[in-house]
Amino acid sequence: MRNILVIFFRSSGLKREDYFITTKVWNTDQGYDKTLKAFEASLKKLKLDYIDLYLVHWPKVDTFFETWKALERLYDKGLVRAIGVSNFEAHHLDRLMTKANVLPAVDQLESHPHFPNSLLHRYLEELHIVHQAWSPLGRATVLKEPVLKKIGKKYGKTPAQVVLRWHIQNDVSIIPKSEKPERIRENAAIYDFELTREEMLLIKQLNRGERVSHAPDVVYVRTEPEEF
Ligand SMILES: NC(=O)c1ccc[n+]([C@@H]2O[C@H](COP(=O)([O-])OP(=O)(O)OC[C@H]3O[C@@H](n4cnc5c(N)ncnc54)[C@H](OP(=O)(O)O)[C@@H]3O)[C@@H](O)[C@H]2O)c1
Repeated sequence: MRNILVIFFRSSGLKREDYFITTKVWNTDQGYDKTLKAFEASLKKLKLDYIDLYLVHWPKVDTFFETWKALERLYDKGLVRAIGVSNFEAHHLDRLMTKANVLPAVDQLESHPHFPNSLLHRYLEELHIVHQAWSPLGRATVLKEPVLKKIGKKYGKTPAQVVLRWHIQNDVSIIPKSEKPERIRENAAIYDFELTREEMLLIKQLNRGERVSHAPDVVYVRTEPEEF
């Protein structure tokens, strides 16, 4: 995947400042020295001088502060434009803030209509941390909901576009993934319509508290690294 990205950026003619690259430190690379080493390896593989946003993939209890200190160092050195976290819940952020010099700019979380993470969203808003949704389409599981099709019909949009628009109107940043160029284009074409308050509420009612992946503390309480 990284090689494809490198080829794409080299051949696109785009300037470095025209694109935004996020990557993260994986669970098995956490800790101060290991994070710095992993970051260097990422820069090398991506053939870049800096990363726009560097994230901690998951809170890990044993290397919790060391990993963040390493991100702060990278930030101070100008090697990353912003630093953030992923899968951090309120109690992880509270703990981080006891020692952090730089607050995370972003918290990347599982969020979609079946699991909107609304309470945490409100907490992030108070802290001025951007809520970014991973699996914003619930890995396509939410797209079968009839209400999405019904709303989409009104605007000539697909269920995926309706869900992505719903996120944007909730001030949630989105990173939908598709391997199909036509769907990538479809997922980007969400800025020419606006859901009504009633439609936003109808989608809100799809909340079932149902995740498509692991809860953050499943990893946090482990001391042995595990791949997620
Ligand atoms: N921070 C973390 O811990 C974490 C965890 C999980 C994921 N992520 C990241 O979050 C991003 C997205 O998450 P995700 O891939 O799990 O879930 P997602 O974006 O919610 O869903 C991806 C699935 O939806 C399908 N899809 C995409 N656009 C569609 C459309 N317009 N219509 C119908 N189906 C569509 C894709 O199939 P096709 O490819 O066939 O189109 C794929 O099966 C990824 O970049 C991933 O790396 C982060």
